[in-house]
Amino acid sequence: MKTLNDIRSTFLSYFERNGHEVVPSSPLVPRNDPTLMFTAAGMVQFKNLFTGVETRDYSRATTAQKCVRAGGKHNDLDNVGYTARHHTFFEMLGNFSFGDYFKEDAIPLAWDLLTKGFGIDESRLLVTVYHTDEEAVQIWKKHAGLSDDRIIRIATDDNFWSAGPTGPCGPCTEIFYDHGDHIWGGPPGSPEEDGDRFVEIWNLVFMQYEQLEDGTRRDLPNQSIDTGMGIERVAALLQGTNDNYATDLMRSLIEASADASNTDPDGPGKTHHRVIADHLRSTSFLIADGVMPSNDGRGYVLRRIMRRAMRHAHLLGVQDPLMHKLVPALVGQMGAAYPELGQAQSLITETLQLEETRFKQTLERGLKLLEDEVSGLDKGAHLSGQAAFKLYDTFGFPLDLTQDALREKGMGVDTDGFDAAMAEQKAKARAAWAGSGEAADATVWFDVADKHGTTDFLGYDTESAEGQIVAIIKDGAVADMAKAGDTVQIALNQTPFYAESGGQVGDTGTIRTDGALIRVTDTRKAADVFIHFGTVEEGEVTPSKAAVLTVDHARRTSIRANHSATHLLHEALRGALGDHVAQRGSLNAADRLRFDFSHAKALSAQELSQVEQEVNDYIRQNTAVETRIMTPDDARALGAQALFGEKYGDEVRVVSMGREDGSGKGTDKSTYSLELCGGTHVRQTGDIGAFVLLGDSASSAGVRRIEALTGSEALAWLREQQMALAGIAEAMKTSSADVPERVKALMEERKSLNNEVAQLRRELAMVGGGGATAPEAVDVGGIKFMAQVLQGVTGKDLPALVDEFKASLGSGAVLLIADTSGKAAVAGGVTADLTDKVSAVDIVKAAVVELGGKGGGGRPDMAQGGGASAENAEGAIAAATAILKG
Ligand code: SER
Repeated sequence: MKTLNDIRSTFLSYFERNGHEVVPSSPLVPRNDPTLMFTAAGMVQFKNLFTGVETRDYSRATTAQKCVRAGGKHNDLDNVGYTARHHTFFEMLGNFSFGDYFKEDAIPLAWDLLTKGFGIDESRLLVTVYHTDEEAVQIWKKHAGLSDDRIIRIATDDNFWSAGPTGPCGPCTEIFYDHGDHIWGGPPGSPEEDGDRFVEIWNLVFMQYEQLEDGTRRDLPNQSIDTGMGIERVAALLQGTNDNYATDLMRSLIEASADASNTDPDGPGKTHHRVIADHLRSTSFLIADGVMPSNDGRGYVLRRIMRRAMRHAHLLGVQDPLMHKLVPALVGQMGAAYPELGQAQSLITETLQLEETRFKQTLERGLKLLEDEVSGLDKGAHLSGQAAFKLYDTFGFPLDLTQDALREKGMGVDTDGFDAAMAEQKAKARAAWAGSGEAADATVWFDVADKHGTTDFLGYDTESAEGQIVAIIKDGAVADMAKAGDTVQIALNQTPFYAESGGQVGDTGTIRTDGALIRVTDTRKAADVFIHFGTVEEGEVTPSKAAVLTVDHARRTSIRANHSATHLLHEALRGALGDHVAQRGSLNAADRLRFDFSHAKALSAQELSQVEQEVNDYIRQNTAVETRIMTPDDARALGAQALFGEKYGDEVRVVSMGREDGSGKGTDKSTYSLELCGGTHVRQTGDIGAFVLLGDSASSAGVRRIEALTGSEALAWLREQQMALAGIAEAMKTSSADVPERVKALMEERKSLNNEVAQLRRELAMVGGGGATAPEAVDVGGIKFMAQVLQGVTGKDLPALVDEFKASLGSGAVLLIADTSGKAAVAGGVTADLTDKVSAVDIVKAAVVELGGKGGGGRPDMAQGGGASAENAEGAIAAATAILKG
């Protein structure tokens, strides 16, 4: 038997032998087509090659492409499990020609692979062609020898394939397999075509036009080929069945589901196993490609698929989470062909388990409510919109889960009522928000979110992607157009630009449409809409345009390094100072990082150097930085650092970095830093490059602030320091290494010189050198009083002089006024025997007033003060004399 894995490799190697490049599958989230929710065909990654916008060094390619058809234009979710061929996830095998071969080669290549490579009985094959495509008819006749009755002409869109509302398109020919008359159904185009007897297995599209936004079509620069074959269908026929779920790969997943639930794979739970097997594939591959369950956009489609599978597991009677146990079976089947699956195995397992555990809490009660609501209703009745909305809002039942549950009972949901209840809730939320005091101009973004949904952030995985412009704001209002020179704010359905949050600054870069270039200078968020602030530099930009978004890579790289270094710094500080260290704020910009944390006193030089060294040790360890999603409680249980006072949602991203041997955090205690964080990070700690701690300062009471640099900024700073040191060394005519000793010696020398100068000044003053008159004591009411105005001395010299004058008097009072470049310094002294009669403080205070100053103070034996000028020195001496007189 040819297994599905054999079929894939037979297909790829056949086209490889025929000159095709084997190209890996592109991710399920399209990078180059903002109109698509998920990649749903093999040609998606080649769109720009068909239109000629892009060229590569090959003109023939072959792929096995992961596809999801759930949500968006292609949606098979509702039928999965109930039919033989619907899947939310499937693989499309394809061969492509970009202006190389066309119909006359594509048809023989396909026919030969089917009949010779796979050995399919020719007599069971028939084809359809677009009704005007006589050329294809002739090739089929000539190469395959098909008779007219086995070439069916179809006039509908079934045989004219297009990628979407716009993009490459062309007529197609489809190859069908006849499973035999024991199965009901008729050939394509017949009234019985929906039966299972005739199954389309391969679609060959003759790409020759491009559908444009204005509704017109133009010829592609080169005629091209795009083919798509559902591997599950071919596997079914090669394995002698017409049921995709009976093929080896799907069967092994169904058996894994049966084993894990201890039920019969073919018993009454058959449909449940099929749904579980299918949904396991789509959810696992979506998670591996970076989609996380959420309440909006792609994340909500994922959540819907997950919860739908979980309800079916519940119906099997399984009490504990089941889906995550099936991941090893899937990786065993598909991990070799899609290595990303194995790489993300733990992320997939944890995400499934988390979602299952949470949904379990409401699933049972929700199903009970549903039972109660419909118990009185007849078959064919509709559940009220209010009840369906309550299931959605309170119990986490996506609408299609409720519909799926009711389908088994032959009932439906009043979807208009559901929509009305949803609209009412949004209106309430908006009213509550309007009163929350946020900036009034943010209202406009609430409108955008209401109308177009919130922005899907792609920037964890990519720095460039296409997006569709949903709104342009100019001068605070929605605009139909913006032109060169205009300052604008732009929202798109998805973006790789990080919007400022959690201390990380917003991204900058460019947005290009086919006619315009916008330079983005900042990105911020309001109402979960990412707002790109910028200026139109060229052309005109209008809404609904597809745009190529490119983040400034160098800047983002530096921001990433600074953000990851902040996590390492946080942990190193806790290690050096203690567990009381908690983040109080941070800034992760392109040129530096800043980290505020709770700690009462300044860090010692030794602590600073220990922290810096530790951060650099983990940088050099160069281990992978990992991100996982979990509930805030689970994250805290693992020891993750959360921000004090921060409100977290139901799920958080947890970033871990650095390896420890059993003394760290996480389940196996092997993680150095574990933090709740929504920011973007380096892949390996080594990408930070280097870390330089500039120093710490007080930020506010009990909060210290550290500033630091990483990567090239750190190196540039070190270089600058080195240059400065070299400059000093040169000026001092010594080596850099000797500079500290030399500076110390100079400082000592300076200190003793200063002392010497002060001494000389005092001596000079004592002999009258600085004064207008020689010091002379007068008797004031029996107290010897010596008053003097001095030049050439400073306030600092006065106390020592007062002491000396006091000593020379033996008993008495002294007032010295230094006339210092326009200002006046005053010092007064009273010998100890007289301090109970008169205080130096009073003498100085009285003098200070006369000199245009205020206050003055000290001890009764020695006081100091200052004045605006020494001009009225005479008045000051008189005032002091008056005090002495009592
Ligand atoms: N693009 C075509 C399809 O999806 C053929 O690959 O059917």
